[in-house]
Amino acid sequence: MVNGKHGFAVIGYGGMGSWHIRNVKEHFPDRAEIIGIYDIDPEARRRAEEDGIKAFSSREELLADERIDLVTIATPNDVHKEIAIAALDAGKNVISEKPVTLSIPDYEEMVAAAKRNGKLFTTHQNRRWDPDYLIVRKLIDDNTLGSVFRIEHRVQGSRGVPGDWRNQKEHGGGMVLDWGVHLLDQMLQMTYPHKIVSVYNELTYVTNENCDDGFRATVIFDNGLSFYVEVTTSNFIELPLWYVLGENGTAVIRNWDNEGEVVKVSDWENRDAVPIQAGVGITKTMAPRTDETIKRYPLPEAQGKWEEYYANIFDTLEGKAQQIVTHDQQRRLLRLIDALFLSAKENRVVSFE
Ligand SMILES: NC(=O)c1ccc[n+]([C@@H]2O[C@H](COP(=O)([O-])OP(=O)(O)OC[C@H]3O[C@@H](n4cnc5c(N)ncnc54)[C@H](O)[C@@H]3O)[C@@H](O)[C@H]2O)c1
Repeated sequence: MVNGKHGFAVIGYGGMGSWHIRNVKEHFPDRAEIIGIYDIDPEARRRAEEDGIKAFSSREELLADERIDLVTIATPNDVHKEIAIAALDAGKNVISEKPVTLSIPDYEEMVAAAKRNGKLFTTHQNRRWDPDYLIVRKLIDDNTLGSVFRIEHRVQGSRGVPGDWRNQKEHGGGMVLDWGVHLLDQMLQMTYPHKIVSVYNELTYVTNENCDDGFRATVIFDNGLSFYVEVTTSNFIELPLWYVLGENGTAVIRNWDNEGEVVKVSDWENRDAVPIQAGVGITKTMAPRTDETIKRYPLPEAQGKWEEYYANIFDTLEGKAQQIVTHDQQRRLLRLIDALFLSAKENRVVSFE
């Protein structure tokens, strides 16, 4: 602690490491003192100094600084484990960027290090505060659509995998471990306490051979919900971000600006569908509904305050709260990721839970 504030440091000062420094500085001037960063790359250390942030010349030097009680790790995925264990053994509390690590045995080693040192250890699952996700949660919690039987969540880009460590398997690259970790965590939060019955997943390798550049997973829950999660990177026309089907209506969220709508049936009994021309045939089943039997509504409002994540960390360190992202949640997420990879490797449905 420094002057009653938490001494804060970041290891890995790339895109996300500098983001953590900026945001903690902006949102928590009264609770956190930025002590400095360490990055293996001298160029990143120089950038930090330019940004007015002290760059330690080694990880050991940073970890030896007694003012620091909280370290966020924002390095490539394959080194989270080693750095987290070193930081915990140096008596620091640790936040790891997602994915926390690459396997369950690795995770257990990290948790053991936290336990033997009596320190907080958690993962930055910041997308639990994404407004689009909170809107879908609200639709479900408020039972707006009646019983929901299908959710489709797609994140689609057209740039392949970035040409850095993210396209290299040995660094924990690939889209399952990148975006997938967020979307699967959101799914597990949203559907809790329902258990997963089975998982089927396909990995894509359109732009990259070394690791996946996308995936398409179908997860079936014990209440019959079919949850489809897709991350793909060769889509020059995107499908909606969310598509939610309930017995009494449908919701769509088209993009991260949260454009979309809810359409609900207002008169199920009215079955006077008039056949329409469809291609070279006619259909009554697929005739669009007329305005007499449906109603359109705007999406509900949902504000996501990401700052709650760090506020919870500081509260937990001060004994006033429990960490939001727990070890059991992370274990379940890592097991699900294993099931996704197994399903894709063996091209089969994998039973789960
Ligand atoms: N939560 C989110 O929304 C979000 C968004 C982007 C990235 N991330 C995660 O953040 C982490 C970093 O991603 P990024 O986009 O900032 O990557 P990046 O490549 O921009 O930055 C990584 C930095 O880590 C440094 N580094 C590599 N090995 C190191 C080591 N052993 N010790 C110290 N520094 C080391 C690199 O030099 C680089 O500066 C990844 O785990 C990624 O999954 C999370």
